[in-house]
Amino acid sequence: MKIFLDTANIDEIKLAAEANLIDGITTNPTLLSREVERTGKGYKDILIDIAAIVNGPISAEVLSKDVEGMIKEARELQDIAPQIVIKVPMTFDGMKTVRRLEKEGIKSNVTLVFSAVQAMLAAKAGAAFVSPFVGRLDDIGHDGMEIVDEILNVFSNYDFKTEVIVASVRHPKHVKDAALMKADIVTIPFKVLMQLFKHSLTDQGILKFENDWKKVNI
Ligand code: G3P
Repeated sequence: MKIFLDTANIDEIKLAAEANLIDGITTNPTLLSREVERTGKGYKDILIDIAAIVNGPISAEVLSKDVEGMIKEARELQDIAPQIVIKVPMTFDGMKTVRRLEKEGIKSNVTLVFSAVQAMLAAKAGAAFVSPFVGRLDDIGHDGMEIVDEILNVFSNYDFKTEVIVASVRHPKHVKDAALMKADIVTIPFKVLMQLFKHSLTDQGILKFENDWKKVNI
């Protein structure tokens, strides 16, 4: 399973990249605007900085609602760096945009997906990636990972090539479940990436080995 980092924070991206753990990046308007505020840089410069570190796909989202507006924004985003993938919301016009982008050879990531039929439409439109938001489904009392399971089933039934990015991840269990379901990709906040390393028994074990060693090696 590929791991993407769900952030626009360059410090987090640098740290994760040092460990060679990251296969790509996803951003959204909330994450990018947070970094614009924090750093005082423009969003294009932030994407340029990210692209200098990460070779894999970097998702950046369009904000227009109409097809022509989305296409214009998509081309501008693509001009920033070739590895930029266009995040397009799951709407009727969004899927028309995805189809047009695919014909131009521009990859898209259909975002704000909350059902298997939405994912199927995205795949039929020619999306390279589809992003079900599992955490936001859990937040309203649904089971986000159940939707991922359904999407993976539908895609394998019809041999769709669209890759599934498990998004809106809140905790390590989402990551484990995604791997058990053979999701293609999980995109995670930096905090969850760090949580993946941790286990209390690992910490206790390190401490015990250290103390035992000190008894005879003073
Ligand atoms: O990748 C989608 C993600 O950024 C949304 O996460 O935590 O805002 O639901 P969240």
